[in-house]
Amino acid sequence: MTTIQEQVQQGEGIIPLDENAEVILETRGLAKHFELAGGFMGFGTKPTLKAVDGIDVVVRAGETVGLVGESGCGKSTTAKLLLGLEKPTDGQIFFKGEDFTKMSRAAKRDYRKNVQAVFQDPWSSLNPRMRVRAIVAEPLQIVTKMTRGQINTRVDEVIEEVGLNPYQANLYPHEFSGGQRQRIGVARALALNPEVMVLDEPVSALDVSIRAQILNLLVDLQKEHNLAYLMIAHNLATVRYMCHTTAVMYLGTIKEIGDSEPIFTNPLHPYTQALISAALPSHPDIEREEIILPGEVPSPVNPPSGCTFNPRCPVKIGDVCETWAPALTEEERRHWVSCHLYGDAREAFESGQSAPTAPSSDEE
Ligand SMILES: Nc1ncnc2c1ncn2[C@@H]1O[C@H](COP(=O)(O)OP(=O)(O)OP(=O)(O)O)[C@@H](O)[C@H]1O
Ligand SMILES: [Mg+2]
Repeated sequence: MTTIQEQVQQGEGIIPLDENAEVILETRGLAKHFELAGGFMGFGTKPTLKAVDGIDVVVRAGETVGLVGESGCGKSTTAKLLLGLEKPTDGQIFFKGEDFTKMSRAAKRDYRKNVQAVFQDPWSSLNPRMRVRAIVAEPLQIVTKMTRGQINTRVDEVIEEVGLNPYQANLYPHEFSGGQRQRIGVARALALNPEVMVLDEPVSALDVSIRAQILNLLVDLQKEHNLAYLMIAHNLATVRYMCHTTAVMYLGTIKEIGDSEPIFTNPLHPYTQALISAALPSHPDIEREEIILPGEVPSPVNPPSGCTFNPRCPVKIGDVCETWAPALTEEERRHWVSCHLYGDAREAFESGQSAPTAPSSDEE
């Protein structure tokens, strides 16, 4: 049996990214902290859960940015922030250079039209009582001033584009297979002709045998419309083949981000190294042992000080890791890492000097 990646590769694959492509979506210091119930009898400070704690991501036209990391690291919360389903505690979201919070109502409407979502579970994201035509037409009815005839034509168009037959628009979601249902989800997201799609584990709920079909559909649509994707996925092999850029999250922050190929062939952060070694079988030519991390992911309610990965880090270099959060720095061209191993602290550590006494600036 061929693997998903082999099947995805049998498609034409993603086209290389034009580095000068327009930046469509950008986050700066984006954060979401949830205030939890607690304190003493309703008094005192309530604990805060730092689901997303200051992330910078750039998504360009025609680019797929993959967001990976263990369960609970803040991927879906990031997706919800971008979709306007959660309000950021801090930081900014820019759409084509414009700060969302400073947008006019019309510009915000335009943002919502241009940033669409495909969720993991096509069962729960499609209303079982609505025919597919109504499901796909709904965003058009809400957002546009199109006539009924224009909407019908557009629905037929997108239904065909996702590989379904227009007559199927008169059926209900339960009359479709899982893969077809996810095609309907994609058609609905596509109807408004968006510039960005946020894909939160778009194939995780599907049968392994049909995942590649949906991934290839997404690749084809990207080529056709120069779509930008922010894609959350658990399967690292899929991310490697689907994403131009990969961002590795841990406890609400990005530990490593850059072009996917160097991230997968030469991961710099000890966390990325562990994640990849556990998920991807080593290349026969490369001796790479699986790195087993000690302990569990700490709670985002009280994240460790300094580098949040330090309690589990197999190559921690000392106090510096427990004290200062390392800045995300460009270690190779388009390959950023947030780790003291690559900063001044490492040099100081190796030369036997004490670690630098001031944290490096978070500014790049
Ligand atoms: N509404 C909320 N209130 C409180 N905590 C929340 C809320 N939503 C998410 N969280 C917490 O925020 C953290 C990040 O959750 P999130 O769903 O973003 O993770 P994820 O990376 O998508 O995980 P998974 O891979 O399991 O989908 C988790 O600790 C989660 O429990
Ligand atoms: Mg999630």
